[in-house]
Amino acid sequence: MSILVTGGAGFIGSHTCVELLNAGYDPIILDNLCNSKSESVKRIKEITGKDVKFYKCDIRDREGLDKVFAENKIDAVIHFAGLKCVPESISNPLEYYDNNIGGSVVLCEAMAAAGCKKIVFSSSATVYGSENPSPLKEDMPEGKTTNPYGTTKLYIERILKDTCASDSEWSACLLRYFNPIGAHKSGRIGEDPNGIPNNLVPYITQVAIGKLDHLNVNGDDYPTPDGTGVRDYIHVVDLALGHLKAVEKVLGENGCFTYNLGTGNGYSVLEVVKAFEKACGKPVKYVIAPRRPGDIATCYSDPSKAKEELGWEAVRGIDEMCEDSWRWQSQNPDGYGD
Ligand code: NAD
Ligand code: UFG
Repeated sequence: MSILVTGGAGFIGSHTCVELLNAGYDPIILDNLCNSKSESVKRIKEITGKDVKFYKCDIRDREGLDKVFAENKIDAVIHFAGLKCVPESISNPLEYYDNNIGGSVVLCEAMAAAGCKKIVFSSSATVYGSENPSPLKEDMPEGKTTNPYGTTKLYIERILKDTCASDSEWSACLLRYFNPIGAHKSGRIGEDPNGIPNNLVPYITQVAIGKLDHLNVNGDDYPTPDGTGVRDYIHVVDLALGHLKAVEKVLGENGCFTYNLGTGNGYSVLEVVKAFEKACGKPVKYVIAPRRPGDIATCYSDPSKAKEELGWEAVRGIDEMCEDSWRWQSQNPDGYGD
């Protein structure tokens, strides 16, 4: 089975390609490398001992996509490609709407033209907005998104729902990720953010390795047990394995399906700091800073629908997530390098 993986050179995509290869699938990576390096593709091959086709191509490039579909018999698409930086989306919304929404439309058009109508899409817990209480369930109303990045995820979900409703040959799994962290056990692939990280764990790893002086804990006055924000951190390998189940789902049944991919457990910022200190064996310096605009107090999943319908659940805990993030960071202090 050939699976086209858009954004396959990125953090979640690279881990998913490893699991696809291990399970006997034939992933084909398509990535414009705007937020990743081709070195990750080399390392996917190194970890699995298998070859992977790679196309440097933009999802907005219809001719390029048509060529990929003409050269390969693709059974399904896992669509990771997209821009994901919340503050950048606020300062440059048009780039986000063009890349994420425009790109998804071009991709679906190319898929339909090639007769491949099975897609797994990277959505986000951000579509629940701030109004819904945790644990978040798939049948809750979508919330009001607070930034253009979140709005792109909400609109792409709607575009895929409408597409499935218009043509019964389509099948889509909308996967709402919670907070992916961790890395492959080998320490050879992991998250490699550009510049100063926005997200908690990449920031902590750079403090621990000495690249950043201290972590700013954004708010300690939230209505949570220790006052800091609570999130549902999920190991990226568990997340990757969820995509294999979602691929089986779209290959086996037509329609549009929505699943949370989370653990169902919430950890506060200070609990993550503690778990990370245990993993790296040294203190992580932090200071309490103001709240970050747009942040919510608590966000964690009810993961039961994915367990019941896909037979998937996350099994890796917070200690393992932190150990694996630290192994990746300490073995690759400069990520994939230049
Ligand atoms: P990432 O930036 O590491 O991976 C995305 C990949 O897509 C990159 O390799 C990038 O080069 C590529 N890309 C971007 N625009 C492209 C385009 N127009 N054409 C071709 N390739 C393009 O990010 P990630 O963390 O692996 O996230 C993967 C997906 O999951 C994204 O859609 C993201 O929005 C979504 N998601 C991520 C998180 C998270 O916290 N990491 C949470 C929820 C959802
Ligand atoms: N935090 C800090 N200091 C930092 C970074 C983060 O205290 O330097 C805190 C945040 O305030 C929050 C928690 O750590 O309480 C997690 O923050 P992240 O930025 O790691 O994750 P978010 O939950 O804010 O955002 C993530 C993705 C978004 C996505 C959202 C919902 O980055 O793209 O989950 O799915 F929209």
